[in-house]
Amino acid sequence: MGRRWPECSTLIAGLILITAATAAAHDIITTPITWDREISRIIYERCASCHHDGGQAFSLMTYEVARPWAVAIKEEVLERRMPPWGAVKGFGDFRNDKALTPEQLELIVSWAGGGVPEGEAKDLAPDPKFEQPADVPTHGSIAVSGEFELRKDFLLDGLVPKAVPEDAAFQITAEMPDGSIEPLLWFEHYSAKFAHPFLCRNAIELPAGTKIHGVPPGSTVLLLPAAPATTSSTPTP
Ligand code: HEC
Repeated sequence: MGRRWPECSTLIAGLILITAATAAAHDIITTPITWDREISRIIYERCASCHHDGGQAFSLMTYEVARPWAVAIKEEVLERRMPPWGAVKGFGDFRNDKALTPEQLELIVSWAGGGVPEGEAKDLAPDPKFEQPADVPTHGSIAVSGEFELRKDFLLDGLVPKAVPEDAAFQITAEMPDGSIEPLLWFEHYSAKFAHPFLCRNAIELPAGTKIHGVPPGSTVLLLPAAPATTSSTPTP
């Protein structure tokens, strides 16, 4: 009997080796992209404001908690569901759209498909700070509810959903006096959870007589004026 033990443990050791090798094979790293170097930076910048402990959604703050979500992360960003924009994409052009850039998408796809490597702690991004989004000044804004016609020229800097029922769907456009139509904003399944100001990439000139279509009478949307082009920075004595 004594002779059998070594054989048996050799067998077990062999099995352990095979199991370890299988686990390692499963995790073959085929990408240079790591959580610590590239992915944590993207997540901290674009996702963590909601995805942290005590935030709106489950935490994605560390490699350990994010790793099981790697495939889901890839799918959500490829489908453009995350980060949620709260309005229909491509209708209007906004400077505060936090959608990932094509480069960032590629990094995530490569990382998620390449074995989800962690990388080296020394490369990890600094912890993000979660700042409350600055309140946009609504001074001089126009509240639109129902059909609306501008009496004066207005330089539009953005739109803010002020009172909009959950799940509302409507498309806001501006009909210029010359008849041309400017897309402004389109809500499909409005959710107050994802409400924020929608800031135009370039201010839009709306001449007097422009008609704002699409806001239902039961909703109120603010039109934000662009800040005056020049404010004197010289202190007055
Ligand atoms: C404005 C807040 C917010 C931001 C920013 C955000 N998320 Fe989310 N995310 C949510 C919420 C809330 C959920 C829960 C599902 C829901 O209610 O839609 C969610 C769900 C998810 C899910 C799970 C989807 C599923 O059900 O399988 C993944 C994965 C995800 N987010 C990834 C990301 C990534 C990656 C980013 C950044 C590129 C991001 N999220 C940015 C709020 C956010």
